[in-house]
Amino acid sequence: MSYSIAIDGPAGAGKSTIAKKIAKEKGFIYVDTGAMYRAMAFYLIQKGIKPSETEKISEACKEADITISYENGEQIVWLNGENVNPYLRTEEVGNMASASSVNRDVRIKLVELQQKLAKTNRVVMDGRDIGTCVLPDADVKVYLTASSKVRAKRRYEELVSKGENCDIDAIEADIIERDERDMTREMSPLRQAEDAVLLDSSNMDVEQVVKAILDMCAQ
Ligand code: DC
Repeated sequence: MSYSIAIDGPAGAGKSTIAKKIAKEKGFIYVDTGAMYRAMAFYLIQKGIKPSETEKISEACKEADITISYENGEQIVWLNGENVNPYLRTEEVGNMASASSVNRDVRIKLVELQQKLAKTNRVVMDGRDIGTCVLPDADVKVYLTASSKVRAKRRYEELVSKGENCDIDAIEADIIERDERDMTREMSPLRQAEDAVLLDSSNMDVEQVVKAILDMCAQ
């Protein structure tokens, strides 16, 4: 029987960390929809297409065959037969994903893939439009957020732990800009679904957030 948990929220709210833990706990698959938009963005960057070139994006996205598979519970994103996971987590790809995800043809293609996955599996899916558009009938819907300061600090610590050099104020500015774009785009903007539960994790640790969502599933 299918069962779905939808987790939406802005960049850096901790969605993927939380979603992975819940998927593990429940034995569901974790669907990282941002990684699909990132794979599309990676393809567009390779093609030298700019975020403003709407028609080129619509054309190019038809040639991008994106699929996902699971290995030891980890989602692998395949782009035209190549595992592109190692290339998706850069700031360049993230910014291009935010910009190119406003494109209607990109969204139609990826939403279809996401809905297909949820039909045949029990899923924890995270993104921006899962509760509002992809899975409007999800069994549990969460809108996970945190202040931009807290989100910037978390991303800064993540990058520093990987040995990357970065500036926390620049990260916060980037986060604010990305939120603005994701929340104001015409098609499926980021917003809290009417029946979603708001969780502000600014003053919660990972375990507290996980427990709050597992409690919702149990109700
Ligand atoms: O969650 P993330 O940072 O990996 O997502 C990258 C971008 O992809 C995000 O800025 C907006 C877009 N995205 C989207 O439009 N819809 C989704 N369901 C997931 C991501």
